[in-house]
Amino acid sequence: MKISIFKSQQQLAAALAGRIVRKLREEPRLVLGLATGRTPLPLYHALVSRHRKGETDYSHATTFNLDEFVGVEPAHPGSYRSYMREHLFRHVNLNAKRTHFLDGRAEDLDAECDRFEESILRAGGIDLQILGIGCNGHIGFNEPAAELLPWSHRVKLTLASRKANAGFFDGELRKVPKEALSMGVATILHARQIVLMATGPQKAEIVAKTVTGPIATRVPASLLQLHNDVEILLDEAAAADLRRAGLVGRRRGRLHER
Ligand code: GLP
Repeated sequence: MKISIFKSQQQLAAALAGRIVRKLREEPRLVLGLATGRTPLPLYHALVSRHRKGETDYSHATTFNLDEFVGVEPAHPGSYRSYMREHLFRHVNLNAKRTHFLDGRAEDLDAECDRFEESILRAGGIDLQILGIGCNGHIGFNEPAAELLPWSHRVKLTLASRKANAGFFDGELRKVPKEALSMGVATILHARQIVLMATGPQKAEIVAKTVTGPIATRVPASLLQLHNDVEILLDEAAAADLRRAGLVGRRRGRLHER
């Protein structure tokens, strides 16, 4: 795993946005895997500002979002579809037909997951998957468990994840759905390139476990160690435990300080 540490989350976001802008120029048909949550917000803002400067053309690009709540209307402000529309899609020239979500209102949720996997295959697979990480080590909504499901599936959310998402539902836990649909760990690991972003002190402990700990389904993000093109982008706060343990720079991964 390659680990890059930035002085601030804005610098991290600007660097990743720059990379996506370059990639999009090289491959206009880029297939992006996208994440929601607080962490990627500065990235989306940076991408929007680069687009406003006329630096990007998304008209041939395709996106797949990692996850979506079950039973939430697409127009609901708490849906991940709303989040993406608000923070990225309405500001750039993506073709709506090529922005893909798991539909948490589908009648047959298993069939919906199969349909989503087939769409990824038809698009030729995901070129670059952007990930955040939950404080419990989840990626997408693959929650810590004795077993993880490989492909897109229905998930029962942990209390921790529901609490973390309460901000998108008027701060009220009872309004946060109990279930979601999520890409599986194999869906994620099939992306050609993976970039995981983590910022803030609350992520420091799980980042250290993810990068240096054993591969365990109890830390779903640790499975990323199995992929040969993963980069972990951290701000100083999220890198604190790696630094404290002296693990940065000498064990796994190359360290790139910015
Ligand atoms: C959310 C999403 C994940 C996200 C993670 C971290 O619930 N399902 O895709 O990466 O939790 O969220 P945050 O960036 O807000 O800490």
